[in-house]
Amino acid sequence: MTVIGARPQFIKAVSVSRALAGSGAEELLVHTGQHYDEKMSAIFFDELGIPKPRYNLGIHGGSHGQMTGKMVAAIEQVLLDEEPKAVLVFGDTNSTLAAGLAAVKLHIPVIHVEAGLRSFDRGMPEEINRVVVDQISSLLFCPTKPAITNLRSEGIYGDNRLGQRVVKNGDVMLDTFEAMRPWFNHTIVGALGVEPQKYALATVHRADNTDSVNALRDVFGMLDRAADRVGTVVFPMHPRTRARLGQLGVEPPARVKMVEPLGYLDMMGALHSAALLLTDSGGMQKEALWARVPCITLRPHTEWIETVEAGFNQIVGRDRDRLERAISQLDGCDFEGTAYRDLMTGYGSGRAASIVAEETMSLLER
Ligand code: UD1
Repeated sequence: MTVIGARPQFIKAVSVSRALAGSGAEELLVHTGQHYDEKMSAIFFDELGIPKPRYNLGIHGGSHGQMTGKMVAAIEQVLLDEEPKAVLVFGDTNSTLAAGLAAVKLHIPVIHVEAGLRSFDRGMPEEINRVVVDQISSLLFCPTKPAITNLRSEGIYGDNRLGQRVVKNGDVMLDTFEAMRPWFNHTIVGALGVEPQKYALATVHRADNTDSVNALRDVFGMLDRAADRVGTVVFPMHPRTRARLGQLGVEPPARVKMVEPLGYLDMMGALHSAALLLTDSGGMQKEALWARVPCITLRPHTEWIETVEAGFNQIVGRDRDRLERAISQLDGCDFEGTAYRDLMTGYGSGRAASIVAEETMSLLER
């Protein structure tokens, strides 16, 4: 049983569900309902061909505790009714945590795809979710080498006393990216009213960046500064950010073009022709790398440290001096060199989901 709930998980499920189907595993798909807007959920199922979930639990909103608690209870009931042999979860959302907890308490093995990532900031809800889910998982798939090292330092490694199994499989989002590349919608650039290479793309939705007037003003100030260099900043806006803008009465600068959230194919089309990405999303940091677009990360740290070490991603948080330095270094990104090729090989070259399927089959056959 695979449990998904938030936008990035739909993108990951595309390749894993396909690989599982190809390996002969029977997959029961459950949507918690965490993301529910047409543009945050349904569009991904429609355009990416994800099978319709057998259950949609319709749980969203409220505090983290309320949302997670309701999900644990509802998922537990599905587990009792359906008796799956294992539960597969992705990433670090409240849906991931809830499914992991519900399963482990019924002694059903948890499979965690995108294990071992750490920002080392326990103020982030996602960091808590990751740490807990890794501890209670039986089979852990790491996208990168630093993720394996992080797990080891927390006592999680292959065949430890708890019998946990850790596998480096690469990045299942890269599998989706490669599979969907022919359908990326490059005409979106014209539809957005911008010209290739004359705009930056931005996404900002983390609580830390959106939940106070000062943070939102800082973020918009930084986007405005980026517009000095590229002309326009296109900002497909997450519902959380849009809601906070209204509640806190913050006006975006004129050169920041706010649009509705984009589906995957439009977003990847818009990313490809952008001169720059400014983001606080985890997934977009890598998608920029794969699309050969320099990234500036509007968070004080990242789980994708290898993108920073290789010079393709600059971590600036909301610090204006760091932004200036990052902007002055943008031309230094070499997407043709060996550092880039090595980094891409590390993400598994599009085979990450098939490794998940093979390993999952051997767990199911045990
Ligand atoms: C969640 C994940 C985050 C991930 C992000 C991807 C957690 C703790 N965080 O954050 O790691 O990067 O998804 O987008 O799980 N909302 C809508 N419509 C929607 C979805 C959300 O209006 O379709 C509103 C919610 O009602 C809520 C706010 O946006 O008020 C935040 O949504 P929530 O699901 O709590 O977390 P995200 O910020 O989306």
